[in-house]
Amino acid sequence: MGRYRQVPGFVIFGAVLLLIGSSWRCSCGNSSAPLLCRREERDALLEFKQSLESNSSNGFLRSWEGEDCCVWEGLSCDRATGHVIRLEILPQVTITENDPFSYEKWESLQLSDPVVYASELSPSLLRLRYLNHLDLSGLRINGSTLIPAFIGSMKHLSYLNLSNVGFQGVVPPHLGNLTNLEVLDHQALDYYSPYDLFLADSHWISRLVALKYLDLTGVPPVNAQDLMQVLNTLPSLSHFALSRCFAPGDFSISPGLFNSSFLARLQYLDLSRNNLQGPIPTLLRNMTSIRHLDLSNNDLYGSIPIWFSDLNGLAHVDLEGNQLDSIEGGFSFFIRGKCRLRFLSLGDNLLQGEIGRNSSGICAFGLELCEEIDIPANCQTG
Ligand SMILES: *[C@@H]1O[C@H](CO)[C@@H](O)[C@H](O)[C@H]1NC(C)=O
Ligand SMILES: *[C@@H]1O[C@H](CO)[C@@H](O)[C@H](O)[C@H]1NC(C)=O
Ligand SMILES: *[C@@H]1O[C@H](CO)[C@@H](O)[C@H](O)[C@H]1NC(C)=O
Ligand SMILES: *[C@@H]1O[C@H](CO)[C@@H](O)[C@H](O)[C@H]1NC(C)=O
Ligand SMILES: *[C@@H]1O[C@H](CO)[C@@H](O)[C@H](O)[C@H]1NC(C)=O
Ligand SMILES: *[C@@H]1O[C@H](CO)[C@@H](O)[C@H](O)[C@H]1NC(C)=O
Ligand SMILES: *[C@@H]1O[C@H](CO)[C@@H](O)[C@H](O)[C@H]1NC(C)=O
Ligand SMILES: *[C@@H]1O[C@H](CO)[C@@H](O)[C@H](O)[C@H]1NC(C)=O
Repeated sequence: MGRYRQVPGFVIFGAVLLLIGSSWRCSCGNSSAPLLCRREERDALLEFKQSLESNSSNGFLRSWEGEDCCVWEGLSCDRATGHVIRLEILPQVTITENDPFSYEKWESLQLSDPVVYASELSPSLLRLRYLNHLDLSGLRINGSTLIPAFIGSMKHLSYLNLSNVGFQGVVPPHLGNLTNLEVLDHQALDYYSPYDLFLADSHWISRLVALKYLDLTGVPPVNAQDLMQVLNTLPSLSHFALSRCFAPGDFSISPGLFNSSFLARLQYLDLSRNNLQGPIPTLLRNMTSIRHLDLSNNDLYGSIPIWFSDLNGLAHVDLEGNQLDSIEGGFSFFIRGKCRLRFLSLGDNLLQGEIGRNSSGICAFGLELCEEIDIPANCQTG
């Protein structure tokens, strides 16, 4: 009986809320004014919050209360519709710019003292139906560790960051349903063993036709050749990282591995720490748009090829930790025309003698190490 009486009350309450919400939206015309978030999405968020264990000393989840979820920390709503479109659980450690050790501190804290734990990812996230940006990199899963297949149903996602969440097992092919995805960041830091999380099959990635950014650091593909063939088909991919994935002999860059259109659009390539053996692969000379190249900590030997001097867009070059013994054409030729170069590391190789010049002020370096480069003064004429 009491039940029948409650219903109208609830309806009226809802209607009043709606009225307040809509008049607020229309009359003030201030685009930065708060919106009332949608009740069903707020409920979903509160359910999600319930599934998290948080260190009470941080403020992140404490802001998750009150009616307007759109002002809660880590969330953004679409201004026109009020739908939650962005959810970020970021690693929350304060970095002060003046503290020279802050980066190391941040790194160690990130690994050993994360902020938010969950035993599994709550499917309540599915009720945020318009979410297009999901960053879970501040979350640590410490229970059931498979990536839930339901993430593949969040079809509006264009950004998905699962870095260091601690998932294990096979990456589910259901992620192939995310056809709007532009960024997939899946890196697992050293804290997690590679092989904890792996790609059993890569073909689903070919359905991610909008993908521009793919980071699979520490997430080895069972069949590397298959993965690379799939990458050749992705029309927009320009950022690719696959570091720390292979044991010696597991992977090499063979002449047919990448095709010319893939190489030509690549701007960022990180294949560091993969036990790559042999000379620097000639195929890489076709990376005509490359800006960031990291082949550090492999077993590459021989000389740094002459064609490096043609890759003029390079801003970051890391070849540290190989067995390279010379630079074809010499260091000045290598660096010639690289007006964008800001970082170069050749340390821990077998390079000997004078590999650089100090006179033009190009860089400050020891015999083998050259970092934090100033813009070459005579770039145009070089
Ligand atoms: C809009 O809202 C912001 C923040 O709430 C406030 O600082 C600003 O003065 C408002 N502008 C107008 C025109 O009301
Ligand atoms: C919360 O984090 C602080 C700082 O990292 C730590 O000292 C404290 O023990 C943590 N508290 C809980 C309940 O985990
Ligand atoms: C993903 O999150 C990590 C950790 O916060 C961050 O370092 C990385 O830049 C993020 N990736 C992208 C593509 O924004
Ligand atoms: C991890 O999971 C266990 C079991 O559910 C729980 O007791 C613990 O508090 C969780 N959090 C951390 C940080 O280990
Ligand atoms: C998503 O992908 C999986 C595996 O590829 C497939 O079985 C499933 O039917 C797809 N779901 C939707 C909603 O497309
Ligand atoms: C590169 O490979 C993809 C997939 O095999 C193919 O669709 C594309 O036409 C190739 N491009 C060139 C220039 O060969
Ligand atoms: C790389 O470029 C060279 C010459 O520019 C060309 O002959 C070769 O076919 C290209 N290879 C690939 C895989 O794109
Ligand atoms: C570069 O030259 C300057 C002035 O000649 C000298 O003080 C400096 O020590 C040199 N740096 C290196 C790394 O050789």
